[in-house]
Amino acid sequence: MTAPFVSASKLHLGSAYYPEHWPESHWPEDIRLMRAAGFTVARVGEFAWSSLEPAAGDFHLDWLERVIGLLADAGIDTVLGTPTAGPPAWLTQQVPDMLAVDEYGRRAQHGNRCHYCVTSPDFHAAVERIVGAMARRFGANPHVIGWQFDNEYHTVCYCDRCRQRFQDFLRARYESLEALNQRWSTAYWSQTYSAWEQIPLPVGPHNPGLMLEFKHFITHSYRQFQKLQLDALKPDLPAGVWTTHNFMRWYDGYDHYSMSADLDIAAWDWYEGMGHHDYLSTGALHDLVRGFKQRNFWLIETQPGNINWKPVNPILNRGETRAMAWHAVAHGADAILYWQWRSALGGQEQYHGTLVNQAGKPRPFYAEAAELGRDFQAVSPLLAGSEIHASVAMLNDYDSLWSIQWQPHHSDFDYVAHFTHYYRPLAALNVAVDILSANGLSGGADLSAYRLVIAPALVIQDPATVDALRKYVAAGGHLVLTVRCGMKDPYNALLPQYQPGSLAEIAGVEVEEYYALLEPVPVQGDGFDGASRLWAERLTLTGSPEARVIARFGKSNGWLDGQAAITVNSYGKGLVYTVGAYLNEEAQQELLARVLGAASVATLSTPPGVEVRTREQPGQPPVSIVINHTAAARTVSLPWASRDHLSGAALAPEFELAGYGVMVLTPMEKE
Ligand code: GLA
Ligand code: ZN
Repeated sequence: MTAPFVSASKLHLGSAYYPEHWPESHWPEDIRLMRAAGFTVARVGEFAWSSLEPAAGDFHLDWLERVIGLLADAGIDTVLGTPTAGPPAWLTQQVPDMLAVDEYGRRAQHGNRCHYCVTSPDFHAAVERIVGAMARRFGANPHVIGWQFDNEYHTVCYCDRCRQRFQDFLRARYESLEALNQRWSTAYWSQTYSAWEQIPLPVGPHNPGLMLEFKHFITHSYRQFQKLQLDALKPDLPAGVWTTHNFMRWYDGYDHYSMSADLDIAAWDWYEGMGHHDYLSTGALHDLVRGFKQRNFWLIETQPGNINWKPVNPILNRGETRAMAWHAVAHGADAILYWQWRSALGGQEQYHGTLVNQAGKPRPFYAEAAELGRDFQAVSPLLAGSEIHASVAMLNDYDSLWSIQWQPHHSDFDYVAHFTHYYRPLAALNVAVDILSANGLSGGADLSAYRLVIAPALVIQDPATVDALRKYVAAGGHLVLTVRCGMKDPYNALLPQYQPGSLAEIAGVEVEEYYALLEPVPVQGDGFDGASRLWAERLTLTGSPEARVIARFGKSNGWLDGQAAITVNSYGKGLVYTVGAYLNEEAQQELLARVLGAASVATLSTPPGVEVRTREQPGQPPVSIVINHTAAARTVSLPWASRDHLSGAALAPEFELAGYGVMVLTPMEKE
């Protein structure tokens, strides 16, 4: 982890606020209620382009300055959103070709959002103008602590300009058509290109190399778009004022590591939609976003009870949302912001959860947010500036995610579900995990802080990553390779060698064959009894004297019967496990518990539904956040007596935790 960022000067609570939806006379009461709930931040401006610039070059920024001032008078900081996700009607009328075209050739209509073509020069000019005007007016405003660019980038445009830009992008990347044809195996089905202009945008399934490059192109286009905003803003930002974007969990549209590279902090929007969250899986969402910048993040949107965009939009249980907020903090969030403050009378989201209703009166949920406001005020001094220290890393790779998504080979094989399958047993034992970019290792990232590294379904193999992993294991690290590792090169072409490619040397094993499964296959070994579902890989030892088989496949299709399913090899001072099975939950828990034990990773057992996470900073006692994610009371046993800083209570090592209860503990000093 890099040094704590300045965004962490306090633990923030707040919401998105759209004052442009309301007459100015309503603002003081809104802000009074925010303050009464203990809110310390508001996110403003995000879709307000038509209110900020009602006609080209005619800026109306005074109202925004007044809002920022009123918020500041109430002790509430502002995060400003650039309004570029809502290009106004005068602009789309002026330059209709800035409206995005979908894969069927249909142009977007005005009246929704993110309706822009991300490569449109006319749009870019308008964006530079509005962002520049906001920067000059608000950049130095001491109450504006950070900026969010746009909103949830996601539109993919298939217009002629984007197609040409894609061709230019490929030309710069491959330099020659020969190189491209060779990398993409275009002799296949006579795809060979003899001119750059022939290369299409992929609609539906296409050449795997072309599809991967299209994702790289989308990433590149959005990064350029973001850079344009950053360049318009940065000259007016004093040191310490940060930039961010509100990402969407595992959203598969672009490479989030690349998109985060130019930002100061990462932020994301957490909506559970229907049903309830499962903390064993959702912890991975927070850890994923924390990994984008390898520092604490902002939960910049989350649901105040319910949403409006699922078939059924139930409210979360009373107390559940507060537990979710603490779950985010326990995984490194420095701020929780609800979306949104008040229901607008019109617009597309009339039924979404809010803090106050359309009459401006607190809804029942407001009381829960206010409780969180009191919590945060009580423990902000303890938690601000603290971080998560993990001894386990998991490697994530968007190229591998896409590669599997396009050719899953088993319709139920999902990269994220498989990744989460490795995360959950760790979460159940309260083990902190850093989720890192596998590609990021090629920049010489240091893995030596980790006792264990897991590479789930790292299909795409970059030689620099292999090198980093080899060094890590040689120096004593433990590594887990799972099914589907090391199958393809960075162009999404099959490697002309057995899986796991160049990792075979440290794994001491090769994958002789892979199988999509109709039925689960037994997996048995020394004290180990499970089954593999969806997928199985027949492993063969390559002659390393240290390699041994942990478990074998039982009777199934004949090809797998009695073959090695899970192996371990010593390499240098470290160990490499190869898991050729996609195990059932119980066996997976058993396997991971063994792997953690061998790597001497500290674990903590808690009753089902109870999570314990620790944040630390130099010179202060570690702070443990204990959360009951269930509605029933639980008895928790910790290795030490403690003080709960929310209630002030002194606690024996064993204590009761109410349903959805939260405690923020430090170990008890001898008093
Ligand atoms: C998204 C958007 C918000 C809002 C919420 C509603 O996350 O960023 O503007 O529309 O969904 O759930
Ligand atoms: Zn376009």
